Amino acid sequence: MTKFDTESLEFLFNKVLTKYNTDLSLYAMASLERRLDRFLSLYHFDSIYHLTDKLIQDNQYYDFFIKEITVNTTEMFRDPTCWKIIRDEILPSLKELPTIRIWHAGCSSGEEVFSMAILLKELGLFDKAKTIASDLNKEVIENAKQGIYSLKSVPINEENYIKSGGLFSLNKYYTVKDNTIQMDSHLLENVKFMRHDLSTGIPFSKFDIILCRNVMIYFNKTLQENVFQLFQKSLFKNSFIIIGKKESMAYYTNAREFSEYNEAEKIYKLIS
Ligand SMILES: C[S@@+](CC[C@H](N)C(=O)[O-])C[C@H]1O[C@@H](n2cnc3c(N)ncnc32)[C@H](O)[C@@H]1O
Repeated sequence: MTKFDTESLEFLFNKVLTKYNTDLSLYAMASLERRLDRFLSLYHFDSIYHLTDKLIQDNQYYDFFIKEITVNTTEMFRDPTCWKIIRDEILPSLKELPTIRIWHAGCSSGEEVFSMAILLKELGLFDKAKTIASDLNKEVIENAKQGIYSLKSVPINEENYIKSGGLFSLNKYYTVKDNTIQMDSHLLENVKFMRHDLSTGIPFSKFDIILCRNVMIYFNKTLQENVFQLFQKSLFKNSFIIIGKKESMAYYTNAREFSEYNEAEKIYKLIS
């Protein structure tokens, strides 16, 4: 059941769209409303109208709001069985290319980007890679560029790395400082970070692999369709798109133009 009246939600969505070009009306509404409700009570707004005024007047507050209402949870080598296929099959299949172009769409704080860089290093493909890592949220992009993570994240990241076929210990790639780890900044040598909003549909370039994992689950069907169209335009023929385990390409209008490379891991290949 909806928590807010349509009129106030439309007011917020229209103002945000006009000022910041992000269309929040295309997010999965139940989840967005829950987070909006939490935001209003946590930061003491008595109505959506007051929140909207604040967002329109204060760009920095808008960035903070976006961070709070989106879900940024991530891990290195998240879903290790998927990363094992990237290590054992997908990257080796691209090894003859002069350049391997990779897009992490919705990269959050960068753990996925470091995971890919580590794989590229271990497969001897690091120098061939050109990577774009993008997210809607400026703050997580800054975190990703810094590559500083909590020491508490190490056990799960290490476990995922080993399960995904990791050859060493992850500590080869970071140094410990107090309660944090600092990732080796050389891993980001071939990575360009950008703020990019998938809801605008604006393409960059063409890629051999697009990872957009655990992002579209928060979008409604219309936005999922638009984003799949954007990705299709952004892929070379025979290249790969990897989405989250709980996500699906089944409803995408042009799904038949992709083969199910690995349905369980949600890896698809553009065939036409
Ligand atoms: C749960 S995280 C996923 C991180 C990583 N891909 C993973 O699977 O672990 C979802 C990310 O999507 C980003 N996001 C949400 N809406 C977006 C949009 N319209 N355009 C680009 N990124 C978006 C969020 O800011 C967040 O960092």
